[in-house]
Amino acid sequence: MRIVTTIAEVREAVRQARHAGQRIGFVPTMGYLHEGHLTLMRQARSEAGFVVVSIFVNPTQFGPNEDFARYPRDLERDEALCASVSVDLLFHPAVEEIYPQPFRTSVKVAGLTDRLCGASRPGHFDGVATVVSKLFNIVKPDVAYFGQKDAQQVAVIQRMVADLNLDLEIVPVPTVREPDGLAMSSRNTYLSPAERQAALVLSRSLAMARDLVMAGERNMSALAAAIRAMIAEEPLAEIDYVEIVDYAALQPVERLERRALAALAVRFGKTRLIDNITLEPS
Ligand code: PAJ
Repeated sequence: MRIVTTIAEVREAVRQARHAGQRIGFVPTMGYLHEGHLTLMRQARSEAGFVVVSIFVNPTQFGPNEDFARYPRDLERDEALCASVSVDLLFHPAVEEIYPQPFRTSVKVAGLTDRLCGASRPGHFDGVATVVSKLFNIVKPDVAYFGQKDAQQVAVIQRMVADLNLDLEIVPVPTVREPDGLAMSSRNTYLSPAERQAALVLSRSLAMARDLVMAGERNMSALAAAIRAMIAEEPLAEIDYVEIVDYAALQPVERLERRALAALAVRFGKTRLIDNITLEPS
């Protein structure tokens, strides 16, 4: 595995791989890797001849009062994990490499970004869309892998790729969970043992929602209320949002008639966790 920090090195390595006839697979990350990230990389490994991973804690997707400075970082461990799943090229740029000053352009995907996480994290998805389009232009992948754990992010990236005619395939990958159900996240490391235990209410409430749908529930306001009620019983949990939205447009749905997304964000102390589950009427 090669580790590089400059855009020029990425371009040269990818040019050679493409020249050798390899399909380029790309997994963008912010590092502090866990089994969720590694699952994306393994899928890339099985589907692409040349696998590129980026590790870049992107400042523009963090709000002024968010955790950019204290976001967990451990490059040495991340390098070993990438090597263990046979990544070909690891790109770990400095902030100045990605955002040389002055920097004045931003990619905004309207409509999809004003609800759910977009509502409580203004500007977040502009930062994501901007850095992901930059990374796509640097790496020029044929295929890029994104986790369903960040379902709104997948929807935003898919919209951006379609709207801007970006020439690559986006592959969504199912959420990877701890054995007890908690969705894996680099932010889980912030949780105290009591908060870690309390956070199980997220996957539990979503599993209950799926059970209610299987039992015939089609009223999505009632379903969201049931999820909220279960989370409210957990004293350490503070709800940011619980919403049931159309799968593609991310607009609220009243009756479950097509595939929908039950999505939530909940705070445990200072840590904000997200999770979601898809709901099918049949
Ligand atoms: P990060 O949170 O590091 O996640 C990188 C990728 O791993 C994303 O596609 C995310 O959805 C996926 N992922 C995280 N946890 C997962 C889990 N438990 N199961 C499956 N996939 C999981 O998302 C970002 O970074 C950034 O916004 C980024 C796209 C890199 C742009 O800066």
